[in-house]
Amino acid sequence: MKNQINDIKNRALGEIGKVKTFEEVEVLRVKYSGRKSELTNLLRGLKDLSPKERKKMGELSNQTKRVIENELEKKELEIKNEELSYIDEKEKIDVTCPGEKLEKGHLHPLTQIRYDIEEIFKSMGFLVVDDREVEDEFHNFDALNIPKNHPARDMQDTFWLKNGSVPRTHTSSVQVRFMENNKPPFRIIVPGRVYRNENSDATHDYNFHQVEGLMVAKSGEITVANSKSIISEFMKGLFGEGTKVRLRPSYFPFVEPGFEFDASCPYCKGEGCRICKGCGWIELGGAGMVNQNVFTSVGLTEDEFEGFAFGFGIERLAMIKYGIDDIRLFHAGDLRFLEQF
Ligand code: DAH
Repeated sequence: MKNQINDIKNRALGEIGKVKTFEEVEVLRVKYSGRKSELTNLLRGLKDLSPKERKKMGELSNQTKRVIENELEKKELEIKNEELSYIDEKEKIDVTCPGEKLEKGHLHPLTQIRYDIEEIFKSMGFLVVDDREVEDEFHNFDALNIPKNHPARDMQDTFWLKNGSVPRTHTSSVQVRFMENNKPPFRIIVPGRVYRNENSDATHDYNFHQVEGLMVAKSGEITVANSKSIISEFMKGLFGEGTKVRLRPSYFPFVEPGFEFDASCPYCKGEGCRICKGCGWIELGGAGMVNQNVFTSVGLTEDEFEGFAFGFGIERLAMIKYGIDDIRLFHAGDLRFLEQF
């Protein structure tokens, strides 16, 4: 019996040494240590032995069983460790590695500044309105006191469509649209896209954005001083508290008197620098008291109302605010530019 036991043990250890999977270990467990194993079968013969032999063989077989079970467990551990080190290597995650940065989109710089502009005017009670981009001659020109064959038409290079319409050359056209449908008093701003038939260079583009402003009330209620104060508040909101505004006489057909307005240079605070070309002021837009001809062209009675209008380019403001030296960058779709905002 001793030989048989040793034989079982040797075969078991030999086989255990060769297996590679948990399933194979399980098969060997059933074969060598289960209730129906060879060893268990062999022990049924113990009862035929002398008590002394029985004790000896009993001990030997128990010991053998323990050795085999030990080996099975060791093997299992070995397989498990192998699997773990495989996972370790193949699926290793270094939690100290910096993560991949997720790029978040953001608003175009022109949209950002447009929102800023809108917020400033809304805080002063202005309504934000818009209207069509393709206009008829009446709303873009005639009603704004720019009749045909008048030299003022040449102030704006115009794209003419075959049917006689124009992609609006300025947002002033919305003054007319708005006053056709709304009686004063009101105060509005009109941000929007405009079109000009001209060659583009660093400071001109055939397509850009303007904001038109219009504040109208009963005659005698609004003066040039009001317009200067509103424009000043706006400039302070955009460029900082210390910003000053000045008006210079100028001509625009739809206002009388007309002005151009300048802001003190936000870079040198009026000292004179490269941005303001040494003069301390930056020209930003036009303004003036609404010409009575504009009121009458929308059907309002002459001299019943008075108000002021102003207009400026959004790109130009953004260029000054952010120090951009080429207007074409706004529409070039170059991410290297856009991602800086
Ligand atoms: N519409 C003018 C332009 O496009 C800008 C402008 C000037 C608007 C004076 C105004 C104004 O309302 O009063 O150049």
